[in-house]
Amino acid sequence: MRKLFVGISKMWGVSGVPGEFKMGAAMQSVNSFSNAWLCVEEGVIAGLGGEEGFFGPESLALEVNQFMESLYVGRTIETPNPIHAESDMQFEIVDLGGVELLPGFVDSHTHLVFAAPRWKEFVMRIGGESYETIAAAGGGILNSANALQAMDEDALFGQAATRLQLMIAHGTTTVEIKSGYGLTMEAELKMLRVIRRLKLAFPIIIQSTFLGAHAIPLEYKEQSDLYVDLVINEMLPQVVAEGLADYIDVFCDRGFFSPAQTDRILKAAKAVGLPSKIHANELGLTGGVEVAVANGSLSADHLEYCGSHEMDILRNSFGSEGGGTMPVALPGTSYFLGIPYAPGRAMIDAGLPLALASDFNPGSSPILSLQTIWALACTQMKLLPGEALNAITCNAARALRLENNVGMLALGMRADFFTTDSPNAINTIPYFLGYNHCKQVFVLGNLQ
Ligand code: NIG
Ligand code: FE
Repeated sequence: MRKLFVGISKMWGVSGVPGEFKMGAAMQSVNSFSNAWLCVEEGVIAGLGGEEGFFGPESLALEVNQFMESLYVGRTIETPNPIHAESDMQFEIVDLGGVELLPGFVDSHTHLVFAAPRWKEFVMRIGGESYETIAAAGGGILNSANALQAMDEDALFGQAATRLQLMIAHGTTTVEIKSGYGLTMEAELKMLRVIRRLKLAFPIIIQSTFLGAHAIPLEYKEQSDLYVDLVINEMLPQVVAEGLADYIDVFCDRGFFSPAQTDRILKAAKAVGLPSKIHANELGLTGGVEVAVANGSLSADHLEYCGSHEMDILRNSFGSEGGGTMPVALPGTSYFLGIPYAPGRAMIDAGLPLALASDFNPGSSPILSLQTIWALACTQMKLLPGEALNAITCNAARALRLENNVGMLALGMRADFFTTDSPNAINTIPYFLGYNHCKQVFVLGNLQ
């Protein structure tokens, strides 16, 4: 039966057309309905409306209005229950009781599968060491790889599932998860199989990314091209043969993979039909943006270093229908490592679209809540609350090329959303930092 959600004082992120994402000044706009309803059929939005109007078939809007009127005829405080017999019901009514409702968040960049926290490095950095020096001394990602190689698949799955539950409880209903803490054929495949198990175990959309080129293993330190050969000639074909990845990613930066090595990997991926995303310009103006755009990557993530040259290249990539390398800022990383924030304000002012993600991982961003990322984007990057909301919903969906499915409340899109008791939610969620504003989370119209 169709579900009809009512008792919604405000429904944010509504749209008349699926598939939208926002650039430049348009990023400020967040459409909403007051005293709204949302109709869901088989997990998908069949219509939605409120005082301002409706989106969907006119016949449905009429049916909903008539049904609501008949349902509440004669209703008083003394007789609060609807008078309909069960068999008369055209809809299964879900009365949310006056909440505000938002589209579920889309986290387009995470490293959710990992074996252990890296709190020792956290303490070392407080003492003055940098992320780069720790990594160069064999710590950092290589630490995570040692721990992951030693842990079995079931244990990794159990830990990851617990973290994913928490993410969902904080409003995230679409998530991308990368490999990259394996760094051997066996351990990379193990990570990707854990992600595949998560896909089967959870109702949310989970996308997987092969990040074999995340760091150069110690034994390849002086001959990193040989590790690139291993990624291209051995790991990639196996990953593709087993259908384990939706995208490929490379950490293109100083001390990690060069633009030339990144280019080789992205071209090899393209040849086997795997779209790419990259880690770019976290540690300097290191050429990552250029190589991403030249290869038609779906997104370039980090961009803590991003000047007007890089912004021009990114903006020009949005020339053609369906194209464009989405800039993705990761303010959790800037906060946790004490490095600059991506110049998100300047990017939007230059007419660019912008997405935001958690980068959730044990080394540089142990933050899984996109509510926290939303707050950091507002206070530290000077994004307006509505701009940042678009950056963690529709624009993040675009960074995964899922904008037709998730990231907004529109006809035909998935009924993934959450409710909150926080009034004027799009301003108060990023304002009250540090606790969970989600009341209930729904995936495909089902309460989680
Ligand atoms: O996106 N920068 C590279 N990769 C991750 C960090 C991974 C780690 O330190 O474990 C990131 O920040
Ligand atoms: Fe990352």
